[in-house]
Amino acid sequence: MKYSTEDIEQIIYPYLPSEEGYAKDVIVAMNYAFRAGGKRLRPMMMKLCYDLFAENKDDVSLIGPFMAAIEMIHTYSLIHDDLPALDNDVLRRGLPTVHVKFGEDIAILAGDGLLNYAYETAAKTFMVSPGDVRVEKAFSLLTAKPGIYGMIGGQTLDVVMSGSKIDDNQLEYIYLNKTAALIECSMMIGAILGGADDATVENIGQAAKAVGMAFQVQDDVLDILGDEATLGKPVLSDEKNDKYTYATIYGIDKAKTYVNNMSDKANNIINEISSKNKESKEALVSLIKTLIDRDR
Ligand code: IPE
Ligand code: IPE
Ligand code: MG
Ligand code: MG
Ligand code: MG
Repeated sequence: MKYSTEDIEQIIYPYLPSEEGYAKDVIVAMNYAFRAGGKRLRPMMMKLCYDLFAENKDDVSLIGPFMAAIEMIHTYSLIHDDLPALDNDVLRRGLPTVHVKFGEDIAILAGDGLLNYAYETAAKTFMVSPGDVRVEKAFSLLTAKPGIYGMIGGQTLDVVMSGSKIDDNQLEYIYLNKTAALIECSMMIGAILGGADDATVENIGQAAKAVGMAFQVQDDVLDILGDEATLGKPVLSDEKNDKYTYATIYGIDKAKTYVNNMSDKANNIINEISSKNKESKEALVSLIKTLIDRDR
């Protein structure tokens, strides 16, 4: 079964904190960023990977909190990525960025708030299924992939190398970490909670790496060729920040070929995996194909 953005939002929105109490200012900013128009790809891919193996796809008592958590972590990464000290961008998901709307102080805290609340949300599954090794594995990945050996590591080299030419190893490190790590996190957690064995989870992780590389290179292409209104974020942000990207180093044609090849690589791995639900596999493969030519 395929999911729309709205299907995913119906699952994840109920986990948002309510806007009340003395912390209300930060919660309003967190929810503003979260509810703005994102594609919800990470929770969508998580759910599809869950569906590949799950006995009962409709039971979201374990997967739901993790879907909300990964979108909270992704949203925090966007808030901080847009800050004046990082990419200094003023538009995100079609709305003014959090620091433009609420000030830099609240934007920093809203990012911190979403990161922490992601773990509070996912930790609720400890009560749903006490002692469940799948939950332990999923929670461990949710702590590791966004961290210094994942997304933060990639963002670090990305900002450190602003203005400097990067070699192929540095480019691969940046993309595998700043972008692919959260996609690996999403897809592997989905497979784990669905009940996939360790070898299969590893294969899903390999496919996710390829999806992540393709996703970031297409993001670089859209930074050059995209339309701001469609993207919901500024174009030419990389040029403004003197960033070398796959698209600026190798050109648009090579970048597009790379996106195609990496997407094929991901889908070949997924097609080899034996899963319970054939429809879900088709939905995942077709979602990955649509990302090749995405315009937002
Ligand atoms: C943007 O991610 C940041 C990158 C890793 C390129 P998305 O393109 O998934 O952003 P949203 O969630 O749809 O806003
Ligand atoms: C950032 O990459 C990826 C994150 C971890 C947020 P970009 O800086 O290229 O993402 P956009 O283009 O601002 O969405
Ligand atoms: Mg950036
Ligand atoms: Mg950016
Ligand atoms: Mg970008």
